[in-house]
Amino acid sequence: MNAHFPAGFRWGSATAAYQIEGAAAEDGRTPSIWDSFSRAPGKVRNGDTGDVATDHYHRFREDIALMKELGLTDYRFSLSWSRILPGGRGPVSQKGLDFYRALADELLDAGIRPVATLYHWDLPQELEDAGGWPERATAESFAAYAAVAADALGDRIATWTTLNEPWCAAFLGYGSGVHAPGRADDLAALRAAHHLNLAHGLAVRALRAALPAAAELSLTLNLHAFRAHTDTPEDRDAVRRLDAVGNRIFLDPVFHGRLPADLVADTAGITDWSFVRDGDLDTVCAPIDALGVNYYAPSVVAAGTSETPSPWPGAAEHVRFVPLPGPRTAMDWPVDPDGLYELLVRLRDELPHVPLLITENGAAYDDYADPEGDVHDPERVGYLRAHLAAAHRALADGVDLRGYFLWSLLDNFEWAYGYGKRFGIVHVDFPTGRRTPKDSARWYRGVIARNGLPPR
Ligand code: FCB
Repeated sequence: MNAHFPAGFRWGSATAAYQIEGAAAEDGRTPSIWDSFSRAPGKVRNGDTGDVATDHYHRFREDIALMKELGLTDYRFSLSWSRILPGGRGPVSQKGLDFYRALADELLDAGIRPVATLYHWDLPQELEDAGGWPERATAESFAAYAAVAADALGDRIATWTTLNEPWCAAFLGYGSGVHAPGRADDLAALRAAHHLNLAHGLAVRALRAALPAAAELSLTLNLHAFRAHTDTPEDRDAVRRLDAVGNRIFLDPVFHGRLPADLVADTAGITDWSFVRDGDLDTVCAPIDALGVNYYAPSVVAAGTSETPSPWPGAAEHVRFVPLPGPRTAMDWPVDPDGLYELLVRLRDELPHVPLLITENGAAYDDYADPEGDVHDPERVGYLRAHLAAAHRALADGVDLRGYFLWSLLDNFEWAYGYGKRFGIVHVDFPTGRRTPKDSARWYRGVIARNGLPPR
C-alpha cells in the first residue's frame, strides 16, 4: 500500500508540560495537582514524580534538534499554568513566560510550528485548594491565564488548544480518583466537566480578543469509540449511556450549545445541573477552528454493571466493558485501528464543517537499548503504520483531517504509571537523560519525508 497524504498535511509529535519538563520548583514554578498527587503515597507507581522527568526544561534545544531531524512540521506541547502564574491567578512569572518564548523561538528557527495547549491536567494546587474544577471560579481563572499567555506568546504561537482531554481531567481526576487530584465523587466530576467546558468557552473569548485574526483555536478531546457487544437494545443502550457521559457531554455544549437531554436524565439521581447558569452554554459554543482527537483504543460495551468508584456517573450501574481479543500494548490497551476510522467518520457526519487533527496517537511497549545502544521497536512501527493507514482511509472517505501528532516524542512520566510506560519514539535513559531515537523515529521520519506510508 502506498498511501499519500494531502499536500500541507501537518506531521507533528505531542508532549505535555508535567510529563517532560522537570524543573518542578525552578524559576518560581509552584506545585500543581500532579506534584501533590505524585507525592501522595500509593498514587503513582514506584513513587515516581515529575520533579525531573526528561529535564526538557533544560534540554529543549537538544529536543528541538531531534524534532528537526525527524522533519516535524508541528510540535504540540503544553504550558505549565503554575510556571506562568504561580498561584494560578494574580502575578505573572516573567521567567516562566521567558521559557516558553525561548521554546517557541527555537521551534520557529527550526521551521517547526508551535502548537500550544493551555491545560494538560496540571491545575495549580492553590486553585485546587480553593475548590478546583468543580467550582466556577476555576474556569474564570483559566480565562485570565489564557489572556496572559496569549498576550505574551501570541506573536510567536498561532495555534492554540484550550484543554487536553477534559474527560480525563473531570472523570479520572474527580470521579474515579485515579488521576490528580484524586477525588472520587460523581457530583464533583459532573460539575468539573461543566466548568471545564465553560473554561474552554471563556478562554476562546479571551484568546480571540488577544490574538491576531488568523490564530487557530482548538480543543482536544479523547473521544471514545464505543461498540455494542451485541446488537440487542440493551447493549445499544449501554453505548448510548457511555456516549452521553463520555463524548456528548463535551461535543454537544461545545458545538451545539446544549446539554444532552439523556445525560441530564441519566444523572438525575446525582444532580439537577443547576450549576449550569443562564448563558453558559452560549459561552461554551464559541466557534473554534479545529477539533483535536486523541485516540488509542476502542471499547466494547454491554448491559451490566461496572466497578465503583467509576468514571461513568449515571452509566456505571448499567454498563460493563467486554475485553477485546487480539494484540495489546504495554498499557494492556487493544490495538484496533478501525476504532480510529470509526471515530473520524462519525465526526465527518456529525460535524461536517469542523476540520480535525489527530492530536495524539501512539503506543507504549517495553523498549530497551540493546548492547549496541539501539532500540528496536517493531510493534510500535506496526501500531503507527496501521493507525496511519486508518487515518488515510478516513481521508479517502471525505474526512477533513489536517494533521497527525504522534504521542509521544520522548519517553516520559506516564501519569499514574510513572516512568514504567514508554510511549516515546525517542528513548530516554532517565538516570542520565540520554536520548536515543528508536527505530520508530527513523520510520516516522520516512513517513514525513514522503508524506505517506513507506512500503513494508
Ligand atoms: C493521553 C494523555 C497523554 C498521555 C497519553 C498516553 O490520555 O493526554 O498525556 O498520557 O494518554
